[in-house]
Amino acid sequence: RMYKRQVICRRDINVFNVPFLAIYESLIPPEEEKLKQNQLVALLEKLVNKEWPAAKLYLYGSCANSFGVSKSDIDVCVAIEEADMDKAKIIMKLADILQSDNLQNVQALTRARVPIVKLMDPVTGISCDICINNLLAVVNTKLLRDYALIDPRLRQLAFIIKHWAKSRRVNETYHGTLSSYAYVLMCIHYLQMRRPAILPCLQDMDTTYCVTVDDVNCAFFDKVEKLGDFGRHNKETIAQLVRGFFHYWAYCHDYANAVISVRTGSIISKREKDWTRRIGLDRHLICIEDPFETSHDLGRVVDKYSIKVLREEFERAADIMQNDPNPCNKLFEPY
Ligand code: GTP
Ligand code: MG
Repeated sequence: RMYKRQVICRRDINVFNVPFLAIYESLIPPEEEKLKQNQLVALLEKLVNKEWPAAKLYLYGSCANSFGVSKSDIDVCVAIEEADMDKAKIIMKLADILQSDNLQNVQALTRARVPIVKLMDPVTGISCDICINNLLAVVNTKLLRDYALIDPRLRQLAFIIKHWAKSRRVNETYHGTLSSYAYVLMCIHYLQMRRPAILPCLQDMDTTYCVTVDDVNCAFFDKVEKLGDFGRHNKETIAQLVRGFFHYWAYCHDYANAVISVRTGSIISKREKDWTRRIGLDRHLICIEDPFETSHDLGRVVDKYSIKVLREEFERAADIMQNDPNPCNKLFEPY
């Protein structure tokens, strides 16, 4: 009798693979969007190089890490070697240069944690954030993209989780919830922890890619095409993974003691990171270690109010995945 129930449960959840995959497909940006992005980057590069001929432009964030949904803003990093000028000054000058061209809503945000210039290109309709020398973000973008190439279930899961987080308004760091970057790391970590594992730990393998950025050594295995079909021994489907992900964050994660770590492919303890106390604004109520800036907790934005909101949303989602006859609609119901 037990056996029969299990079989029924398993078939039940798999009924939702088709609608979940349809949602995933509908979020993938069409090719023409990539073309427009490249067109804008070429224009920006031309303008930047007039002032700084040696400067290079890099795309980072979701337009380059393969976790970008259709119609996202793009993130651009300008690499400039100008030791004698501070970032705020470069940002002001950059804004000036771009202002004079055909670009709209050019704004210099010099006091943000990462100073940026924001703008909109009326030709392509794309909005973009430009930062200076934020090369760690360019490297973590590559790490995420390399993980996505290993097993298609990562991209599927992350699109669905990001879509859920946006619909439920728990993807707003200025309101104390998590960044898209944090959610993608949570997905990678979840797939690293499956048994059999669906993803390996690239930073725990032979180094084939190595750069030092801002005194941080970034080393990992990036010949992912050599990994073959790494996750093939694990047959879990997208619907099972979505259910399992929410179940983990609703009922299994040890919020008091655990830090999730993509760098090690495991859970580590808050004690070993000295993340047990509140220091300044860092409260460590949900701990997600940055894979390269290991002193950096991506959960630092979460406060005592937003942790409740987050955990209630995880529970809501877990319960929908467990019991709702139509989880694909209910999960994404606007908050
Ligand atoms: P969406 O724009 O929501 O689709 O996702 P995104 O991945 O572009 O996220 P976001 O615009 O918030 O961040 C852009 C990129 O900046 C991320 O992909 C990371 O590469 C990087 N980034 C964001 N937050 C942090 C952070 O706290 N630390 C570090 N090191 N990098 C970050
Ligand atoms: Mg972005």
